[in-house]
Amino acid sequence: MMQRHDAPEGDVGSLSSEDIDELLAAGEDGGPMVPRGKIIALEGIDGTGKSHVSQRVVEHLEAREVSTIITSEPTEGAVGRLIKRVTEEGVDPYTELFLFMADRADHVQWMAARMREGNWIVCDRYAMSSAAYQGTYLEEEWETKGRDPVAWIMEMHRPWWIAPDLTVLIVDDIDRCLDRVGKRGQATKFERRDYLERVQANYLRIAETTDGVVVVDDPDLEDIVVAVLGRVEAMLGRSKV
Ligand code: TYD
Repeated sequence: MMQRHDAPEGDVGSLSSEDIDELLAAGEDGGPMVPRGKIIALEGIDGTGKSHVSQRVVEHLEAREVSTIITSEPTEGAVGRLIKRVTEEGVDPYTELFLFMADRADHVQWMAARMREGNWIVCDRYAMSSAAYQGTYLEEEWETKGRDPVAWIMEMHRPWWIAPDLTVLIVDDIDRCLDRVGKRGQATKFERRDYLERVQANYLRIAETTDGVVVVDDPDLEDIVVAVLGRVEAMLGRSKV
């Protein structure tokens, strides 16, 4: 089954991270462990081909008879829609950060319920996007405070998110990415060359200190797909043990 996340549905309420762990680990009747779905997150600056790679991962998993759901952030839910509006109008960087995190908090509940049903989730952008994009905005301001906003944002997710089983970070030449999104001239605030350069550098920095991140740096999209599917196959092998 393939579906995209729009609005959170069902009665998932406000689960604590312990609830989510319990939900994922135990059978409804307290019986044997229910196979837990996995999260594969795709990350990278705009125009790296994340959406194409996500789609190919889903097709691969479906061919291997793994029930898979493709989803993305910002979501189409209420907070996701608000993000699209306020980022166009311009908003204070902290408000922007907390909106992306609020959208994700909703999304995590939604994903947890589907993982409990045994689905794998392919997520086009996840927490690393906030750390890389919003962290980059805060860097200059925080320089004087001697603190690292990128690390702070990753850390803030820890008590409540579900860490991905695999994160694929796609790295590419900035100009090629801007050409792909066709936004060299009329870029949004997220698609400026100088900004994306710093975002990509921050992505690479997070990858060095975060478990389960694979960096794929290849100009050929098909080569990227092959590399990523190799990782997915390795995960499938491990999950059968
Ligand atoms: P996305 O929907 O991936 O881009 P597009 O509309 O081109 O498909 O994301 C929109 C923008 O939001 C993208 O430039 C990256 C940015 N973003 C953040 O700044 N922080 C976040 O946490 C997320 C999820 C996205």
